[in-house]
Amino acid sequence: MAQWFEDESLWVETYPYMFSPSRIAAAEVEVKPLLALAGNRPQKILDLCCGPGRFAVPLARRGYQVTGVDRAAFFLDKARERAAAENVAVEWVHEDMRTFARPGAFDLALSMFTSFGYFDDKDEDLTVLRNIHASLRPGGAFIMDVVGKELVARDFRAAESRTYPDGTVVIDRREVFADWTRVRMEWTIIKGNSVRVFTIDHTVYSGQELKDRLETAGFDDVRLYGSMEGAPYDRAAERLIAVGRKPAH
Ligand SMILES: C[S@@+](CC[C@H](N)C(=O)[O-])C[C@H]1O[C@@H](n2cnc3c(N)ncnc32)[C@H](O)[C@@H]1O
Repeated sequence: MAQWFEDESLWVETYPYMFSPSRIAAAEVEVKPLLALAGNRPQKILDLCCGPGRFAVPLARRGYQVTGVDRAAFFLDKARERAAAENVAVEWVHEDMRTFARPGAFDLALSMFTSFGYFDDKDEDLTVLRNIHASLRPGGAFIMDVVGKELVARDFRAAESRTYPDGTVVIDRREVFADWTRVRMEWTIIKGNSVRVFTIDHTVYSGQELKDRLETAGFDDVRLYGSMEGAPYDRAAERLIAVGRKPAH
């Protein structure tokens, strides 16, 4: 049976609400602190699950050699359009994160905006981390930005609705299930007489659980942060950012 993220219409329909102009613009600002967190001098960067190229394009504009990987052709088309408009070169790869691996190819790998934990089988998350680890050169860094379980518990709201300038209403209902390991978001998009419902499930990791998974995959010196600027992952955290390194030797 197909899993939710394989339904490309989900990404097409939710795109305007998931990727508001302010969210696209936020990545421009985050590139600098992101590179500071990486702490190495990357040349080749992997943006895994790159979506519309929010990070890949600004990084390429700064002169890095960027490879963006995504399984949704819709997003790769958006990303290509943006790269062409900005006249920057990025290698776009249409592949699933469970299979993409290019041994020793990258200095820095990114997984941004909760692009992790999608699979029912949690071992597949580990496969993804192992692929990323294999794709880094020794001494390479990996930065991951997700919503930590602590933040889900702290900020949990069972339902929220937003109305957009064109009159579209988006209702987002959430539930926690599978022994506090998974979160389900049900998005109802009401546009005039059309009502469409999409369900997004993902595994939520606590900071410690994510650290353990990264270490199991071979990462070293794993550090957690609560913001891209490197704030501690504590009660005031805005997000969960994990930085891991592939040992140099
Ligand atoms: C929430 S978006 C984040 C996009 C991007 N990282 C960003 O910061 O804007 C999640 C992305 O993961 C991609 N994706 C979902 N499942 C995937 C899979 N199994 N393999 C590769 N990409 C996947 C989606 O197509 C989408 O582009």
